[in-house]
Amino acid sequence: MDANATTPLLPEVLEAMRPYWMEHFGNASSIHLHGQQAHAAVDRARTTMADFLNCHAAEVVFNSGGTEGDNTALFGLLRPGDHFVTTAIEHSAILEAAKRLADRGVETTFVAPRPSGLIDPEAIRRAMRPETGLISMMLANNETGVLQPVEEIGKMAKEAGVYFHIDAVQGAGKVELDVRRFGCHLLSISGHKMHGPKGVGAMFVRRGTPVEALLVGGSHERRRRAGTENVPGIVGLARAAEAAMHSLEDGTIERVAALRDRLEAGLLEIGGTGVNGGWDGGERVPRVANTTNMWFDQLEGEALVIALDLKGVCISGGSACHSGATEPSHVLMAMGLDKTRARASLRFSLLKTATEDDVDYVLKVVPEAVGHLRALSPVAAGTAG
Ligand SMILES: Cc1ncc(COP(=O)(O)O)c(C=O)c1O
Repeated sequence: MDANATTPLLPEVLEAMRPYWMEHFGNASSIHLHGQQAHAAVDRARTTMADFLNCHAAEVVFNSGGTEGDNTALFGLLRPGDHFVTTAIEHSAILEAAKRLADRGVETTFVAPRPSGLIDPEAIRRAMRPETGLISMMLANNETGVLQPVEEIGKMAKEAGVYFHIDAVQGAGKVELDVRRFGCHLLSISGHKMHGPKGVGAMFVRRGTPVEALLVGGSHERRRRAGTENVPGIVGLARAAEAAMHSLEDGTIERVAALRDRLEAGLLEIGGTGVNGGWDGGERVPRVANTTNMWFDQLEGEALVIALDLKGVCISGGSACHSGATEPSHVLMAMGLDKTRARASLRFSLLKTATEDDVDYVLKVVPEAVGHLRALSPVAAGTAG
């Protein structure tokens, strides 16, 4: 139940990668046979990724994953005096990069979401200034699963002549990616969130976008990312992308959505629970199929995470450990939850291989654990400080 943290390799991904560790171990830059075999594998993978993203193969840059893609977009495009627009609910790969850019003379506006977790495009428009050099926004939020209106932002960016980066790490494999439709100049994805390997990812860089390389050295990836290519990783990423494209068409996503909806409905029956980021003005907010974020009154989310771990259920809480202190999620706080409710929130994120039995089991153990913890809770007893 923690697929947004990471996912296992699909068996076919492992099989596709296997020859590139030993038999075909060549360096894709070498001109001899071993090198050429590796080079051909990287080229094939690039074509698959171009298909996955709907771009040209030359616009695909392989890298180490989402953090690198996010950092490359920001450090590669923004210069002192530029203004940067992003949102308050981004991943730390964006937020921490923006913090560092502040020391380098780049001012950032962090646009807050609506209580539903949705970013209002008009709020992005209002945040823009003549010196805005880049807008960066996530496609799907990692904590709530809420899908953001990237196409509208893409149009706005085009009208204003501003570069637009999308962190699509949590959308890849869950919704169709189409960089032309999104209207972005840059887009980042990560292998390990879509049943590919860890430490490998890809970035779409629209032709002509003057993004400076984060890593310099050899002339790999058309000088956009130096470093010997991770050939097995790249092959695995492309195989995972193929599987993802298949899953978008074979009913897998609908099946996962139905499981998530059943899970959510079952958990709501516990009482004193609710969904974070579910509704906006009486309308359902679009979300990726596999995610629900819920609050459980009178609970510390962390206590429930531990109790469920003991029952073999892995979930994430609405708080994160920063410098030794447990802080409520910045995403839930930005949505306007109070600290207690944010701390009482949990993210359930299903693998695409999840089954009815998995959901049955979770629906058996969560109500038990919640009941038990509430009975012990100082919050419930009214003694909380
Ligand atoms: C939205 C989002 N962006 C970026 C990242 C970072 O990706 P990676 O783990 O590949 O560095 C994550 C990972 O949790 C994420 O959820």
